[in-house]
Amino acid sequence: MSESRAARGDGPHHVVVGVTAGIAAYKSCTLVRLLKKAGLDVTVVPTPASLDMVGRTTWEALSGRDVHTLVTENAAGVEHVGLARSADLVVVAPATANTIAKVRAGVADNLLTATLLTATCPILLVPAMHSEMWLNPATQDNVATLRHRGIEVVEPAVGQLTGPDSGPGRMPEPEEIAQLVQARLAGAPRDLTGLKIAISAGGTHEAIDPVRFIGNRSTGIFGAEIAAAATQRGADVTLVAANVTSEVLARVPGARIVPVVSAAQLGESMHAAARDADILIMAAAVADYRPDHAAEAKIKKTEAGLTLTLVENSDILAELAHHRHKERQTIVGFAAETGDGEHDVLQYGRDKARRKGADLMVINEVGTDRGFGPVNTAVTIVDRDGNILGTASGTKSAMARHLLDAIVTWRERP
Ligand code: CTP
Repeated sequence: MSESRAARGDGPHHVVVGVTAGIAAYKSCTLVRLLKKAGLDVTVVPTPASLDMVGRTTWEALSGRDVHTLVTENAAGVEHVGLARSADLVVVAPATANTIAKVRAGVADNLLTATLLTATCPILLVPAMHSEMWLNPATQDNVATLRHRGIEVVEPAVGQLTGPDSGPGRMPEPEEIAQLVQARLAGAPRDLTGLKIAISAGGTHEAIDPVRFIGNRSTGIFGAEIAAAATQRGADVTLVAANVTSEVLARVPGARIVPVVSAAQLGESMHAAARDADILIMAAAVADYRPDHAAEAKIKKTEAGLTLTLVENSDILAELAHHRHKERQTIVGFAAETGDGEHDVLQYGRDKARRKGADLMVINEVGTDRGFGPVNTAVTIVDRDGNILGTASGTKSAMARHLLDAIVTWRERP
């Protein structure tokens, strides 16, 4: 029985590309081509239903290998066991909601699901489905459970879906998936080993009374992705999470989570973490103002209306940057800007970096339909002198990796 390359210690990596019955299956032809071009051994395992989308002949021609869909097609060869043992990585693209549910439940009703149940190598699921199916609690629960078990479920892109609809659920482009496969095969760099990183994420809630608050639209996904990527690269990560859902926190299995609600609590936790952190990243959306006091009982509606007096919260990023707790501490801020008639997004971001004293500032453009939640984003990273260190766009997890690269480069400067 064949062994994985890791076990053999030689030869090209062997990647099993699972294909399930999503229309995006046609894009996986390009994925197989790209992986082959990169010198990898590729075996395609389509589900029986997916052969309606792309046929066996195409997969055999593109991969240069026999293609089977059922365990019974090669019973003597015990193919699911052979494939699972020889694979260095299994990537399923597209992964339908149906297959994701089967993997969660441990169903093994075709060669692909049987291989996934047998495999001990890294598994990458690349979902593609309609937004309603992706956002359905059943799918979200399946995804959270799989992530807890160490299976990587890639965040789907946002964009045009099958038919006229558009939203989250689109399969990322084959180039992006191929890059991810190669990065996983190379192993994440462990360049943050020995470093302590504290990251704030989410949006603060400032209490008006016991049931109401002033909040914002931040979901904490970007901060959680940064925490997940930093953990993979060997860092000791504390994630100070302001009102972040458990589904989002499930992306960060290795981090120490400190849940907070208000700006004051977030500030306290970041200052505590800053005492021995090498890197501080303020990705949270912190309320600039809070009600001057929170009413003890629920405020009743009156004809006189309601006037709230707001007082300013301290600027945590500026405090951390201006009163550093530790030498060689790198402090990173975020500037989510909409721009206006007077200044553009970059100018606002540069001014903010200087004003707050952050070493690096991640500038991203937001708007009512842009920037929040599981969407693609575009970022520019500047240093405190306003120099642009990099620009990139893509999924928040790809942006998180870019940010960590920029931080590592910044820390290595003479
Ligand atoms: N921030 C902070 N404390 C605050 C407000 C913001 O630490 N009270 C941090 C955020 O976490 C982020 C950066 O400062 O890293 C920029 O946040 P932003 O809300 O864009 O900055 P503001 O100072 O509120 O500027 P604006 O006038 O644009 O609202």
